[in-house]
Amino acid sequence: MPLQSKIIIFFAFFLSIIVFQWAFFISHEEKVLKEEMAARGSVLVKTLAELSREPLLNFQISRLEMQIDSLKKEKDVLYARVVNSEFLVLADTRREQEGWIYSGTIALIPEIIFEERMLTVREPVIIMDSIYGMAEIVFSLDSFLNKINRSKMLFIVIFISELLLGIAFALFLEIQVIRPLHKIASGVEKISADSINKSLTVPGLPSMEILKVSKAIDNMRDKLRKNQDQLVSKTRLATMGKIGFNLAHEIRNPLEAISGAVEILSSGIEDSSQEYSYLEIIKEEINNLNDYLTEFLEFTKSEPGHRIDIRPSELIHDSLLLLGPLLKKHKIEVSDYSGYLQGLWHVDPSQMKRVILNILINSIEAISGPGRIDISINLYESSLGLTINDTGCGIIPENIDGVFDPYFSTKKNGSGIGLALSRKIVEQHEGSISISSNDVITNTTGTSVIIKIPIVEG
Ligand SMILES: Nc1ncnc2c1ncn2[C@@H]1O[C@H](COP(=O)(O)OP(=O)(O)OP(=O)(O)O)[C@@H](O)[C@H]1O
Ligand SMILES: [Mg+2]
Repeated sequence: MPLQSKIIIFFAFFLSIIVFQWAFFISHEEKVLKEEMAARGSVLVKTLAELSREPLLNFQISRLEMQIDSLKKEKDVLYARVVNSEFLVLADTRREQEGWIYSGTIALIPEIIFEERMLTVREPVIIMDSIYGMAEIVFSLDSFLNKINRSKMLFIVIFISELLLGIAFALFLEIQVIRPLHKIASGVEKISADSINKSLTVPGLPSMEILKVSKAIDNMRDKLRKNQDQLVSKTRLATMGKIGFNLAHEIRNPLEAISGAVEILSSGIEDSSQEYSYLEIIKEEINNLNDYLTEFLEFTKSEPGHRIDIRPSELIHDSLLLLGPLLKKHKIEVSDYSGYLQGLWHVDPSQMKRVILNILINSIEAISGPGRIDISINLYESSLGLTINDTGCGIIPENIDGVFDPYFSTKKNGSGIGLALSRKIVEQHEGSISISSNDVITNTTGTSVIIKIPIVEG
């Protein structure tokens, strides 16, 4: 059963209990008040009948009048009278009624009669077992009815306020819980491969708990998406690796053969001849192909090689040594890398050097004229970070998400493997690599790459 129906049923039940309680309370109050009035009336009329015996016997009208007048000050008494057995009204609080003939019957036993707005109590006046007359008192029920009406009004006011409170509570639940829950449910149902990036929007004013739930779902979806991306990229890499590995081997063998044949051919030809220069071009292209294959095979390797404890600064030093001539040629200045120089990485040095070289070569390729590369080493919680900043052309925002994808390249002769391979190596060393570019805040172009690898403890 939906929560909404449950709440409505609960409120209907709750309100009917209130109505039932009040109905019981009011009828009980009415009964008690009536009993009280009847008891008081019968005491008063009995006393009047008792005191009327002697004056009635002796026909002492003024004594009778005195007695009934004493009842005038009693609460709610409308009038009182004493009637003799000949139906003659002997004494009445309303004097003009005296001497008139009583139109009703003489009560033989005590009588208590409730009418719409009046209570009549009658008591026979008995002397020596004979009925000599009757005493009668009539009370107004106005104050009694007012009391009951006040209780009823109070009940109506309380009932309406509780009803309004119930409606307000139901509305509150609807806005804060039910509607957002429906939205979340339909949002979760609609999550598909296309909409996995869209976060859930909960309308209205959802409660904190609902917001927490929708946030948790968003987080779960983000993790799912990341896992899905990773799975896709891992599967792609694995397939590529398998095909590529075989293909690379198959290509390498004929390349070796071609290379050998070219060597033999060029040994018999003059250095200055046209043919020799063609053979040189073939050799250079074979070398390029070989380099490409080496990089590709490296990429398909699944585990890093032998690891040692080494300072990142040492790896940078070696890489810069290799790139010295290239940096000089392009008039690129490299800053003194400073910072946390004591820390050690536990890495395969040749693979990590490959990563640093890839990043530095990207920077060199991005700087068209003279420029700078700034390198620094910093400590981040449990890892040691290496930052390489350049003053190159930067990366346009549309490309930034794709630079780590294998074969993504904006360069004419780029293979697009450099950063993909670097990320693979860094992740195999339990580290992370990130890239950012074109700082809109400081309005500077250039690229910044940060590699974080766990620092060797102790
Ligand atoms: N420092 C940088 N400045 C500007 N763009 C960069 C930088 N580093 C990477 N990129 C961009 O990222 C792309 C991918 O880089 P990656 O190193 O993976 O491949 P590549 O340099 O194109 O080819 P290669 O495999 O030969 O290195 C580059 O083509 C370039 O567009
Ligand atoms: Mg590159």
